[in-house]
Amino acid sequence: MCGIFGIVTDKEQPLGPILLEAGRRLAYRGYDSVGCATLHADGAIDLRKDVGKVNEVAARLHFEEMTGTRGMTQLRWATFGKPSQVNSQPHLDSDGDLVGAHNGNVVNNAELREQFSAEGMTVRSTNDGESCVHAVERYVDQGYDMLQAIRHAYRDLEGDYSFIIGRVGEECLYAFKKGSGLVVGIGEGATFASSDLPSILPLTRHILRVRDGEIVVLRPEGAALYSVEDGLPIQREVEVITESMDWAVKGGYAHFMLKEIHEQPQVAAELLHLLEASEHVQPFVERMAGARNLYFIGCGTSYHACSLGAVYLAQAAGRSAIPILAPQFIPQYAPAVGPDDVGIFVSQSGETKDVLSALYAAQRRGMTALALVNVSGSTLMNESDHYLPLACGYEISVPATKTFTNQALAFLFLALRMGGRSTEALAPLPELLEQTLAQVEPQVAALEPQLVSHDDLYCLGYGLTYPIALEGALKLKEVTYAHCEGMLSTEFKHGPLSAVDEGYPVLFVVGQEDVPVIVSGINEIACRGGRTIAIGVEDARLRTNAQECITLPPSDPLLTPLLATLPLQLLSYRLGLARGYDPDFPRNLSKTLTVD
Ligand code: AGP
Repeated sequence: MCGIFGIVTDKEQPLGPILLEAGRRLAYRGYDSVGCATLHADGAIDLRKDVGKVNEVAARLHFEEMTGTRGMTQLRWATFGKPSQVNSQPHLDSDGDLVGAHNGNVVNNAELREQFSAEGMTVRSTNDGESCVHAVERYVDQGYDMLQAIRHAYRDLEGDYSFIIGRVGEECLYAFKKGSGLVVGIGEGATFASSDLPSILPLTRHILRVRDGEIVVLRPEGAALYSVEDGLPIQREVEVITESMDWAVKGGYAHFMLKEIHEQPQVAAELLHLLEASEHVQPFVERMAGARNLYFIGCGTSYHACSLGAVYLAQAAGRSAIPILAPQFIPQYAPAVGPDDVGIFVSQSGETKDVLSALYAAQRRGMTALALVNVSGSTLMNESDHYLPLACGYEISVPATKTFTNQALAFLFLALRMGGRSTEALAPLPELLEQTLAQVEPQVAALEPQLVSHDDLYCLGYGLTYPIALEGALKLKEVTYAHCEGMLSTEFKHGPLSAVDEGYPVLFVVGQEDVPVIVSGINEIACRGGRTIAIGVEDARLRTNAQECITLPPSDPLLTPLLATLPLQLLSYRLGLARGYDPDFPRNLSKTLTVD
């Protein structure tokens, strides 16, 4: 996830140290390249940028010595296009009198770049941040002032992004927000804008929150907001922030896990926009469709997404795929695969050793290796034949949450495309995720005291919800240290039923189409004294048979598994906390397992 920061001051001064410090504070978001630009009162722009870590690039390019009246820094997290010097941000316009940087994704970037070149502009990179600059340049060249040019540019730039831009010969910077974060800080003799509050708080505690569709004009003495729709000024009170930096880094949440759970509506919306507009989806789908055998390969949470992906593929495209844990792929399938087979390797980190070993085993046999991967510049991203990014930004908490949702969503998107079906049914998902969080939070809170002292439980599902039961059980184990087993609900009677006695808790994750089969499972447990909890859309049959119900908003049955994941994530979080553990860093675990 990229990060941006901009500063406007009342006199020419050293800006490098401030920009460098801001860059260091943006680094927790994850990035692959970094750049700084300063604008001098005499009209010169000093632009320095490259691939690498903040301290390393800053030392190499001497950021500390940069001066000016205005400046900006950007940390880039590549989605498409390899990390490179030219793709690093900020970017200049054609004749070098505009400089800008963005955060987020401009999804019609490829199309815009062609238009800009055809209009005679100098397009230097494939990065969508450069498109933000040219989109403004296009209208400045037609004689519009910066505010009006940004209003026009907004109509051309599709996607979720925010950007900061400055023009030679002026005294201000401009910032614009649509879908990605942007906050403004008002200091003494200086004004700041950033994608993140933590990069501003050490400089000022006076904050102006920018909303989507708003343009900010930053001057040394303060900031003014304008509506992109009608260009009219907007009045907003400046807030004074009293909380700690730690609170700000966690976005106001007590833990990264909770923050990342709540980011799911936003990252799902961003992924959908990205996939809808991506020229990389069609070739990906064609390779899947042409495969003799299709394997979905991952570990842990990523494997559960593979498992759900295979059910999606069968239901939405009428094609089968084999979901397989990466280490088991090597003995069970690698000896039999060949150039006609395709594997989709799924990983948040892109560095999991088990996944990379399976990838190399597959590639030795000539199999095509596709990837769904979150971390930009990771080994899996570099070594696979084609990849799609998961667009989640940095996931800090060890328990994976938002990356699971986007992995599963990417599979559903690909399955619908492969089945020749419209992906419009996915559009309500971000809103449904939001509604689910609001609706289930009190229900989960009420359940917590009933489960907190149990060291042993089951989580069962069927069909589309079987992978969710596996994922819910993994999350519960990981965060609460209790034993929780995920299982196909119909398998329970083949053995585990013997463990049930008075009050033994069993969670059921229910899809709308599988209520009858789940109700039989509920009754097998209830009549032996077990405690049954159903997670699903409101249904009289569940209400009558289960002891507790956590209800989800009604949705397309293909979306229900994604919604059902949220109460299980929240329940794990709450139970972990109630049992006295740190949900972000469970004992014995590591975010990225680079060992066998
Ligand atoms: C999930 O909460 C875990 N922390 C873990 O199972 C993880 O999903 C697994 O190690 C795979 O990681 P990856 O997605 O980075 O490859």
